[in-house]
Amino acid sequence: MRVIETVSRMREALKYCGRSIGFVPTMGYLHEGHLSLVRAAREQNDSLVTSIFVNPTQFGPHEDYRTYPRDIESDLNKLEKMGVDLVFTPSVEEMYPDGLDTQITVGSIGDRLEGLSRPGHFNGVATIVCKFISILSPDNIYFGQKDYQQTRVVSKIVEDLNLNARVVVLPTIRQDDGLALSSRNSVMTSEEREASRLMSRILRDVKLLKAAGTYQVSKIKDHVISLVDQEPIARLDYASIVDSIYLYELDEIKDDSIILIAVWIGNVRLIDNDFL
Ligand code: PAJ
Repeated sequence: MRVIETVSRMREALKYCGRSIGFVPTMGYLHEGHLSLVRAAREQNDSLVTSIFVNPTQFGPHEDYRTYPRDIESDLNKLEKMGVDLVFTPSVEEMYPDGLDTQITVGSIGDRLEGLSRPGHFNGVATIVCKFISILSPDNIYFGQKDYQQTRVVSKIVEDLNLNARVVVLPTIRQDDGLALSSRNSVMTSEEREASRLMSRILRDVKLLKAAGTYQVSKIKDHVISLVDQEPIARLDYASIVDSIYLYELDEIKDDSIILIAVWIGNVRLIDNDFL
């Protein structure tokens, strides 16, 4: 496995790669969710590239860029064991030598949901993903369903800008109690970790309500609000039932609906989703 820090060395190394290239972008502090993407990409491609880059342009001014968990040594160990060929670990200066001068502005799909709570977030994601695609020319690029809106934003920019990469989306990996794995889980206190079980409880209850014949979104939302109210340290950011392609809000659950939730648990903001 080679660890490469600059764009020019990465381009050089890619000349010696096999026919198909799989790429898994990450911000590091790797867990089994990331590794499930790496495993699939390893099986499906001749060469495998992973990036570890905490991308400052997708964090808001009051968000956790500085405190985002990092452990590059442990990450590299994990990737080596998974049979990764190249790891791209550029510095911020390498990726943004002139700051964020040119950037991608995502259309309306990036304004809703996460986009409302985190203005500019998806422009940052789209810009860095586009830069990675331009540097690496991957055949397949892997994303987790955990960040569902991100998968739709990336698919949209790939389509709109005719980028030559196939977006592969893989299922969310969870802990035994249902909490979706996330690098941010590591910063939770034990009280927050206990309260975070609320996330999977919400998704489970909504599925049960639908199975019992409740399709009206307003009724489902009332139930979600009451669940969040029962957890003293939780605060609902949003719970939306949307169509799974354009993410338009629905009044009634229909085929191909998905529920997306964002909840503050103490000082940590968690997101999750499930198809209904
Ligand atoms: P990061 O949060 O590190 O996630 C990297 C990839 O791992 C994303 O595609 C994310 O959806 C996936 N992932 C995270 N938790 C997962 C889980 N529990 N199960 C399955 N997949 C999971 O997402 C980003 O980084 C950044 O926005 C990035 C795309 C790298 C651009 O900077």
